[in-house]
Amino acid sequence: MIDDKKMTQRGALKYMGASVAGMALASMGGLSCLTSCTENGKKRIVFYFTATGNSLYAARQFSETPLSIPQVMKENELVFEADEIGLVFPDYRAMAPEIVKRFLQKATLKAPYLFSIITYGHWDCNIVESWNKFALQHGVHFNYITTILMVDNWLPVFDMNEEMKIDKQENEQFRQAVTDVLKEKNHIPELSEEERKRCEEVLNRIPVLFPVNSEDIFEVKDNCIGCGVCTRVCPRKNYILSGNGVKHSGDCEYCLACIQNCPQKAIVLKNGEANPNARYQHPHISLNDIVRSNIQ
Ligand SMILES: Cc1cc2nc3c(=O)[nH]c(=O)nc-3n(C[C@H](O)[C@H](O)[C@H](O)COP(=O)(O)O)c2cc1C
Ligand code: SF4
Ligand code: SF4
Repeated sequence: MIDDKKMTQRGALKYMGASVAGMALASMGGLSCLTSCTENGKKRIVFYFTATGNSLYAARQFSETPLSIPQVMKENELVFEADEIGLVFPDYRAMAPEIVKRFLQKATLKAPYLFSIITYGHWDCNIVESWNKFALQHGVHFNYITTILMVDNWLPVFDMNEEMKIDKQENEQFRQAVTDVLKEKNHIPELSEEERKRCEEVLNRIPVLFPVNSEDIFEVKDNCIGCGVCTRVCPRKNYILSGNGVKHSGDCEYCLACIQNCPQKAIVLKNGEANPNARYQHPHISLNDIVRSNIQ
C-alpha cells in the first residue's frame, strides 16, 4: 500500500494514472495545476487523443501524466498555464481529429513554449502546415511541430497484421523529438512547392472524412457478445448496450477505437477492410488505458 501522507502530488498522479488523476484533481479545484516537471525543472502539460494507443504511447514520452482530451473536454473552464504545453494526436487525412480541433478552439493555453507531436502511419502529407494554419487562425502559435511514423491503423487500406511487422523505428524518432522539446527547439518544417502541390492533388482525390454518422460506416455482426467494450472506448458515446444487443449512432470521429478494440472483431466497416480478421492496439498500451482515455 502507498502511504498517502508521504505521497507527493506528482507521485499520486503517477500512481493513479493520468486521466483518473485528471478527474480527481479537477474536482479538487481545477485542472490547471496538472503539470509534470521535466529534467530541466520546467513545468509541462501534455494533452493527447488516441484510438489505438500510438498517440498515448507518444504522449508518455513527453510526460509521465499526459491528460486525455476527451476527459479534459468535460470541464467547463479550460485554462492551462505551464512553461511548456504539448498536444499529441493522430493525423486524420492531413488534419487533426475533430475533438482535438475543438479542444484547441475551446482551451486557453498559456505557455511560452507550445509544441505538437502528430502520429501518422504512411504519409504525413501537409499535416504540419494545415495544423499550424488552423492553430494560427485560432490565435495559437506553436514553437515546434513534428510527426512520428507509427503503425497505420487505417483499416480500409492497411492490414494490421502486415503493419505490425514493419519496423518504423519509432523509438529513434521519439529520441529526436524528446531531445528537441527538452531544448525547447523552435522548428516547424515547411514543404517545398512541389511537395505541397503533390499533397493537394492527392487530398483532392480523397473524400473529406467529416462529418460522418457511425451508422453509415459501421455494422455490428451477430458474434457480438455484449461485453460493452465499444461503449467504453468511444469518445463520442455513440454505442449503447441494451437487452437487444449493442446499438450505435451519432456524430463520429472516425477514430476506429470501437472497431479496433472489439474483442470479437464483431464491428466491421460497411465498405470493406484490407483484413477484417486483423485488429491493432499499441503493444505498450492496454485496453484499460484506452477506456480511461475515452470513456464518456
Ligand atoms: C480517420 C483516419 C485517417 C487517417 N489518415 C491518415 C493519413 O492521412 N496519413 C497517415 O499517414 N496516416 C493516417 N491515419 C493513421 C493514423 O494517423 C495513425 O495510425 C495514428 O498513429 C493512430 O494513432 P492512435 O493509435 O493514437 O489512434 C489515419 C487514421 C484514421 C483513423
Ligand atoms: S465490443 Fe464488440 S463484442 Fe463487445 S459489445 Fe461491442 S460489438 Fe459487441
Ligand atoms: S463510433 Fe467508433 S469511430 Fe466513431 S467516435 Fe466512436 S469509437 Fe470512434
